[in-house]
Amino acid sequence: MGRVALVTGGSRGIGAAISKALKDAGYTVAANYAGNDEAASKFSDETGIKTYKWNVADYDASKAGIAKVEADLGPIDVAVANAGITRDAPFHKMTPDQWKQVIDTNLTGVFNTIHPVWPGMRERKFGRVVVISSVNGQKGQFAQVNYAATKSGDIGIVRSLAQEGARFGITANAVCPGYIATEMVMAVPEKVREQIISGIPAGRLGEPEEIARCVAFLVSDDAGFVNGSTISANGAQFFG
Ligand code: CAA
Repeated sequence: MGRVALVTGGSRGIGAAISKALKDAGYTVAANYAGNDEAASKFSDETGIKTYKWNVADYDASKAGIAKVEADLGPIDVAVANAGITRDAPFHKMTPDQWKQVIDTNLTGVFNTIHPVWPGMRERKFGRVVVISSVNGQKGQFAQVNYAATKSGDIGIVRSLAQEGARFGITANAVCPGYIATEMVMAVPEKVREQIISGIPAGRLGEPEEIARCVAFLVSDDAGFVNGSTISANGAQFFG
């Protein structure tokens, strides 16, 4: 098929599963990462997927990184904005820096990832954008005012992009994962995590591959009329 896919935060957690699923589906994949060189090089050795280092919170770095990917692999047809961080704290304790770090990475990072690839998608009359949102952007979450704001924002972004891209053959959709067995969720204190799992009707955390399969569908040709939508994959924790 020869299509090129970019996955930000694509060498660990949900992003790594997405990179692998897209490679298995025949895409040439570029996995972006921000800082963990060791994990990125291990991921690359294991999967044969090329990794590219830049900070999605930095527009110029994103633009330069994307230009490098396109010079190496060809024009990006599929952009998966997955990179994200948490800086959880109850609101009365949340610092302006915790707010800003999460907004810069999770929300501005989506702009910085899609904006440089958008003109090419319009010109070629084809594009697939997927933004990884969260159940917590749909329902809110104690200690995540910053994170939930960005994840709700993702839904507004894809609904708006969908309206702009539809006549150019571009779709933009969000996937809202519930609690998935990744380092991010494992960093939640064990007692709190157990309490969260007890509130998931499926009775378990999701697997990264269960999110990757949603993404693989959304970027496929079969999903051309699915645009501006949200797929929730959360074990029935929340009906969004
Ligand atoms: N609902 C209601 N009350 C809660 C609560 C909740 N979900 N979680 C904690 N509380 C209460 C505690 O019972 C405690 O009450 P008391 O003061 O009466 O004892 C109080 O809030 C905790 O206050 P602390 O001052 O002790 O809190 P802290 O500053 O130590 O912060 C925390 C602890 C950061 C909130 C920690 O509990 C935590 O990490 N919680 C999990 C938050 C969460 O779910 N994050 C999701 C991460 S995974 C992810 O984001 C991926 C995704 O997309 C799903």
